[in-house]
Amino acid sequence: MASTKSSPLTIPLFLTWMILFLQPMVSSGNHAFSIKEATVQDLQLAFEKNQLTSRQLVEFYMGEIHRLNVLLRAVIEVNPDALYQADEADRERKAKAPGSLSGLHGLPILLKDNIATKDKMNTTAGSLALLGSIVPRDAGVVSKLRKAGAIILGKVSLSEWAHFRDGSVPSGWCARSGQGKNPYNISKDPCGSSSGSAIAAAANLAAVTLGTETDGSILCPSNNNAIVGIKPTVGLTSRAGVVPITPRQDTVGPMCRTVADAVYVLDAIAGLDYNDKATIKASKYIPRGGYKQFLKIDGLKGKRLGLFKNEFFNVGEGSVYAKVFERHFSTLRRRGAVLVENVNASKYLEAYSTSIDYETLAMTAEFKLAINSYLKQLVVSKVRSLKDLIAFNNKFSKLEKTKEYGQQFFLDTEATNGIGQKEKEALLNLAKMSRDGFEKLMEENKLDALLSPFSVASSILGRGQYPGIIVPAGYDREGLPFGLCFGGLKGSEPTLIEIAYAFEQATKIRRPPSFKH
Ligand SMILES: *[C@@H]1O[C@H](CO)[C@@H](O)[C@H](O)[C@H]1NC(C)=O
Ligand SMILES: *[C@@H]1O[C@H](CO)[C@@H](O)[C@H](O)[C@H]1NC(C)=O
Ligand SMILES: *[C@@H]1O[C@H](CO)[C@@H](O)[C@H](O)[C@H]1NC(C)=O
Repeated sequence: MASTKSSPLTIPLFLTWMILFLQPMVSSGNHAFSIKEATVQDLQLAFEKNQLTSRQLVEFYMGEIHRLNVLLRAVIEVNPDALYQADEADRERKAKAPGSLSGLHGLPILLKDNIATKDKMNTTAGSLALLGSIVPRDAGVVSKLRKAGAIILGKVSLSEWAHFRDGSVPSGWCARSGQGKNPYNISKDPCGSSSGSAIAAAANLAAVTLGTETDGSILCPSNNNAIVGIKPTVGLTSRAGVVPITPRQDTVGPMCRTVADAVYVLDAIAGLDYNDKATIKASKYIPRGGYKQFLKIDGLKGKRLGLFKNEFFNVGEGSVYAKVFERHFSTLRRRGAVLVENVNASKYLEAYSTSIDYETLAMTAEFKLAINSYLKQLVVSKVRSLKDLIAFNNKFSKLEKTKEYGQQFFLDTEATNGIGQKEKEALLNLAKMSRDGFEKLMEENKLDALLSPFSVASSILGRGQYPGIIVPAGYDREGLPFGLCFGGLKGSEPTLIEIAYAFEQATKIRRPPSFKH
């Protein structure tokens, strides 16, 4: 499926309409079961009632990928073993007692291409430099998914190197699969860097998907593609075997059509992994019995939500967004939440105001260390260091006229020399910002979550290793979706899930994409 030579596609209008109106169904017995838009619970129920098999599910998604990927370019590789894994799952389901299998058992999942799988697929972060490389083992989250019985359906595209190559590289573009497209408006930005995960979830190319975030890479594409993204507390999910930016902020999380689906995925991937030391500390946050118990319809009752329109929730008075969000604020109140507004939030926001971009400063040095150690541990690879990557890109851009994006981030980071005085200062400042900013704001005002529109809070959440959940909130005049984000303190996923689920159930904004231009 990967093609390095193709130019951006233009799809004739009639094809777009054909895509829109074809609605494949699986039928078995008396009832036809529609896989499109089915939730994890719908799919498990259909398995139980013998209306559906994992093989049918994989065949359906493979068909959809074949049909839609020419337009969307969300999928880089389909797992050649996916049907085999489906048959295994179908056999297992027959042999085991009903209810004894995990929530993700037999369900196909797509993984962002920076998450390693030790199988027939490549793990490349979208770059040709890693094509043909061999990883030492499955990523920690992939081991957990396999244990849960999920089917690894394939790898999805991303902004190449999780958008850490050059500022000019468009969101959703990578050398391996070209430009990913937003299914809600093909002319619009899908956002990134987990672009393929969001597009694929939105367009029903898999049951569920995984993305990664350092600063906005789950929240922003989820926002733009009308899906639910969970950006977990750093360390709650293992980053072992994930092509890194910085272990200080990187996190792996679910990107799904519903909050419940995302929570099923979180339950499968969260937890201890000795290959990622951060999971040892963070796994103390995981509640006994997992996260499903927090899918409560009355989850908003008594929750204190920070709504600071001048500081954290500025969408422009009278804008299309403002009107939609005002309705949502009423809904939140009606469902029992307390919207905390009478606070001068400026003093907390002031903690972040500085003329120096400490986040970039720290990341620039951290990336070199992290990527070099990732590349060194590969079993086979034509690149072994950032220096090799830069040389590869120089050579490659000469061969490929259309791929002449720069690599300024790579060059900047190659010029660093470990964590020196400047970087140490930056790290101290980042920690201080979080303490005096977000943490004080939450604690002094006894907030359960901070409300923010779109993914605007991603830097605040990213720098502090805090979790966030984004839920579809509306669509603008050009069909582009936007979301409402709930951010919380470390380990507050149970509370955020209660809030996000109750909000989603009260509003049900998500609808399938139109594939229009
Ligand atoms: C992985 O990359 C190799 C090229 O090195 C290619 O031949 C193979 O088909 C790729 N795997 C899949 C599953 O696409
Ligand atoms: C809010 O706090 C900021 C900074 O601490 C201060 O400059 C401003 O005057 C305050 N505003 C009000 C209305 O009290
Ligand atoms: C898609 O976005 C473009 C502008 O980027 C706009 O002209 C067009 O009307 C939008 N399409 C739909 C269906 O809203």
